[in-house]
Amino acid sequence: MSSLLVMPLRAGGPSVLRIAATSSRRAPALCLAGLHTSSIARTPPAPSAAPKNAASSSSSSAAADATTSALSHEGRGSEGAHYNDKTEADISALIATDKAGGWTLMNPIYTESDLDSVKVVYREPQTITDATIRNMVRLTKWTFDKVTGYKGTHITPDHLKSSTIEQLREKGDLLSDKAWLKRIIFLESIAGVPGMVGGTLRHLRSLRLLRRDGGWIHTLLEEAENERMHLLTFMTVARPSWLTRAVVLGAQGVFYNLFFLTYLITPKTAHRFVAALEEEAVRTYTHCIEDVERGLVPEWSDKPAPQIAIDYWRMPEDASLLDVIKAVRADEATHRFVNHSLANLDQKHDFNPFALGEPAPEIRGTIPGFTREESAKYANETQQKLLGAAKEQQEKQS
Ligand SMILES: [Fe+2]
Ligand SMILES: [Fe+2]
Repeated sequence: MSSLLVMPLRAGGPSVLRIAATSSRRAPALCLAGLHTSSIARTPPAPSAAPKNAASSSSSSAAADATTSALSHEGRGSEGAHYNDKTEADISALIATDKAGGWTLMNPIYTESDLDSVKVVYREPQTITDATIRNMVRLTKWTFDKVTGYKGTHITPDHLKSSTIEQLREKGDLLSDKAWLKRIIFLESIAGVPGMVGGTLRHLRSLRLLRRDGGWIHTLLEEAENERMHLLTFMTVARPSWLTRAVVLGAQGVFYNLFFLTYLITPKTAHRFVAALEEEAVRTYTHCIEDVERGLVPEWSDKPAPQIAIDYWRMPEDASLLDVIKAVRADEATHRFVNHSLANLDQKHDFNPFALGEPAPEIRGTIPGFTREESAKYANETQQKLLGAAKEQQEKQS
């Protein structure tokens, strides 16, 4: 039976924490169990779902086995929750939630204060590559604004005294509901690409090198699905023209291939680029939220949330479209945080610190990301919590 060691490790300078199973396989530098948040909440394996070798052991060794298998990257569950890990009650809960968005991967559920805690923040560039990426993203945004005739003016009470909303829209100072949707549909159709590309490439790397991935794939695929859900949500209120559809089609062809090559050559740069895009996405949605709250998009003042959004974010039935936009912004802040944090890691050897769970929304929404050392500290703390919870669960069962 393998044992679980928690020990400080110095790897390439900064001190990182390492959890290693004493087995013959090599452990990556920043080792984490790839347990998923959903598995943290639901996984404690029932006796019937425990591994066969544990079932035949004494109760204390079974408990130790289950703890090890729950947390070790060598054990089951390290690529995420499996339906076999669930108790009967968990399965009933899963079936019950199937009517309300249970078909999706893990996704966040926010409180009102989570939604309002999101801030527009930017990570200060620390290298020439960082600065180049930021300038590239800003140039792209500037070009996009010019092409769509949008000036991004901050509307003051004076503007509203001298012009109507309709006039401000005609001058390009204010976006109409349709213009917001056009912009959002285009951006979300692009935003859904990176997570899938990164997830695919890491999946293929795991296959061809016959190695575990370290928990990155699920987080990246969740991001891709999260972005696609943004798109599908807004599609319930949008009617994109053939021109918008054509632009989306062409942009995907170009962006997919460019991002694929970038991720293949330098995944760190790819994550930094996504994080920079997400910084702008948070700013754009914050602008949109302010416009709606100030009554500058009157079509959306009392608009209810689409059912798909209520199901996906588990919102109350009387939620509004404004609540949905706030949830989307909180998701974008999470992407900003996760991608900056991932960009700070050793792409080949570090485990994904968020495979075990993600920091609270107030953290994800207010800082650009974790440094590598902060990621290691967070991962270690999460592991300790999980170890404690798994032991507690086993003690209850024995
Ligand atoms: Fe999005
Ligand atoms: Fe995003």
